[in-house]
Amino acid sequence: MNRTENNAKSPQWEKHAPRVLIIFYSLSRQTRKLVRAVEAGLKESGVEVVVEKLVTEKQIKFPFESFLQTVYMMLVTFFRKRMPVNALSPAASQEYDLIILAGPTWSFNPCGPILSFLDSYCMKIFPGRKVLPVVSCRRYWKYHVSYLNKRIRKCGGTPMEPWIFNHPVPEPWNTIGLFLTLMGKNPRRIAILKKFYTRYGHSNRQLEEIQKRARELGSSLLNQLDNH
Ligand SMILES: Cc1cc2nc3c(=O)[nH]c(=O)nc-3n(C[C@H](O)[C@H](O)[C@H](O)COP(=O)(O)O)c2cc1C
Repeated sequence: MNRTENNAKSPQWEKHAPRVLIIFYSLSRQTRKLVRAVEAGLKESGVEVVVEKLVTEKQIKFPFESFLQTVYMMLVTFFRKRMPVNALSPAASQEYDLIILAGPTWSFNPCGPILSFLDSYCMKIFPGRKVLPVVSCRRYWKYHVSYLNKRIRKCGGTPMEPWIFNHPVPEPWNTIGLFLTLMGKNPRRIAILKKFYTRYGHSNRQLEEIQKRARELGSSLLNQLDNH
């Protein structure tokens, strides 16, 4: 019998559905796409999901306005510049079985809004909880994840094996295409790049993959609860 049938028969099951909080930041909508797919996958397996989007106090314009602005952003984010976020909704401080923290890599680090979130909320939300990092990036995520895991542990949380999603374009086109996109230029309008840089960001296949993983994660959360 699947969960939905069970829910229909016994309201008790509904009461015990696992709850997952997804906290995310996304500048160019790539993490947002991943998060939408994760949310759908978890819900398909009967998990209750709350999504908390981080919004910066000062708007960050995307794309950046110029070459210099792009270089500036790369530089300051390399030094982990914080970008303060608005207060979270009260739902974020409720009880959850799992926290998912999703965001892009910026200059090898977690992005500025996620860093600010960690500074302000890590100690309130993570203690005693499992945290699953979801990363959207062009390619280089290792340093990002090791820093994130350190912060999660320091706040009393337990980091899970991260879910990493790269942009599926070969190098050097990926780097060139990303830089031009950040600057507001369309690489696909440049003859030499058109052939090699087919897209900015994640493919539909990746979205299907993450949704499937989320479904499996949801089922394992349900099993864990059933066994308790
Ligand atoms: C300022 C900046 C720096 C970045 N640095 C990196 C990096 O060091 N490594 C990497 O793999 N991707 C890097 N990226 C690419 C983003 O991680 C990637 O485009 C991601 O999919 C964006 O997610 P979002 O649309 O949710 O913001 C950088 C992007 C920006 C804006």
